[in-house]
Amino acid sequence: MKITIIGTGYVGLVSGVCYAEIGNQVTCVDNDKKKISMLRDGEIPIYEPGLKELMDINMNVGRLHFTTELLEAVRTADLVIVAVGTPPLSTGEADLSFVESAVHQVALAMNGYLVIAIKSTVPVGTNVRVKQWIATKTKHPFDVVSIPEFMREGSAIFDTMHPDRIIIGADSKRASTLLFELHRPLSDQIMLTDIHSAEMIKYASNAFLATKISFINEIANICEKVGADVEEVALGMGLDRRIGSSFLKAGIGYGGSCFPKDTKALIQIAGNVEYDFKLLKSVVEVNQMQRWGIIEKLKQALGTLKGRKIAIWGLAFKPGTDDVREAPSLEIVAKLLELGAKIRLYDPVAMDNFLRYLGHPDIIGFEDALEAVTGCDAVCLLTEWEVICEINLKQVAEVMASPIIIDGRNVFDYESVKKAGIIYFPIGRSKPM
Ligand code: UGA
Repeated sequence: MKITIIGTGYVGLVSGVCYAEIGNQVTCVDNDKKKISMLRDGEIPIYEPGLKELMDINMNVGRLHFTTELLEAVRTADLVIVAVGTPPLSTGEADLSFVESAVHQVALAMNGYLVIAIKSTVPVGTNVRVKQWIATKTKHPFDVVSIPEFMREGSAIFDTMHPDRIIIGADSKRASTLLFELHRPLSDQIMLTDIHSAEMIKYASNAFLATKISFINEIANICEKVGADVEEVALGMGLDRRIGSSFLKAGIGYGGSCFPKDTKALIQIAGNVEYDFKLLKSVVEVNQMQRWGIIEKLKQALGTLKGRKIAIWGLAFKPGTDDVREAPSLEIVAKLLELGAKIRLYDPVAMDNFLRYLGHPDIIGFEDALEAVTGCDAVCLLTEWEVICEINLKQVAEVMASPIIIDGRNVFDYESVKKAGIIYFPIGRSKPM
């Protein structure tokens, strides 16, 4: 199949590479000339394990191309996939201007029947609007299909090649058959549905996962007060197959470019039809509150934070990515600076991105996790990178001014911290030790 993908961001690029990998001819289009020339040289603008290798292979065999020439790419395609960004507006609503501009250009370029699939996360009803936008610009027949994306950063290639399910929202047999054929090699769990439901499945899935996280975080907060251990509680809950064990990891709350944006957008979508989505509003509120637990624990451990040397282990919103968008680390570090602390940072890949958002004379970055904590009064673990989880705790205790770990991701076990002589503050695991 000849596929043209518009937008070479996370979703567009990973999808393009994976569709090429299963044997399709893929052309990725972007209006950013610099980005396209980088991609043509085999350089990728994002950190995603395995992406570069797969991209190289598919470029070398001539299945994957990059261009800024949208017209030609649309005219030669059986299917056009729109994967441009939908960043949040200040109201929480998704900004659809990139989608609108992309489909206008597609409509003007069309020279015959075309299937246009929207992969960007768009509010319910958008694909119907997309149809109207295209209809005003072309006389050629076309179909619009919604194919929401469920890949996670850091495991995007695996998720795309082995998806739990594929959702195809269409109102035309011709278009749904085309999308079904494209995805058949990837999954036998393909659900055909209507366009509105497909759009909602994306938001509802992200909102549900975010709800699980905020739920377990509140349970963790209660565990601390009643003397229970949230790790045991999550394990016990997860054994019930109706609940499932995933997304029950307590911590400092969710971040990234998806959950914060999509939860707020769904609250807006509900609000637009005069529905007050109370549960989801609380999920967002709990998530915001959860990060301040780190500051509280630091105060509990050190009293005043003024002039204290505090190290931060991990800045990315989760391991396996250099993405710091909506990462709890940003607000936690900003708050510590406000309280007069001196900050020492370590992250294996996200340091540059972090410093671009938040540079400050009282922040120093280190390339080594142990060096970063040397001479510090406490360290806060915010991202569970493997290299941090496997650190030698004895050495940590030796180099710190006072061996205090505030563990925002519960990665260490009691035995090892105790043996190393560390004062340990995990999340939701009753008393500090
Ligand atoms: C999320 C969804 O998992 C994907 O299915 C979806 O496609 C994507 O959003 C999107 O809409 O594009 P992603 O943001 O890459 O993917 O990251 P996740 O792995 O879901 O983690 C999100 C956040 O939740 C991270 O900050 C992570 O630390 C936190 N989290 C996750 C927890 O605090 N506890 C958990 O148990 C799980």
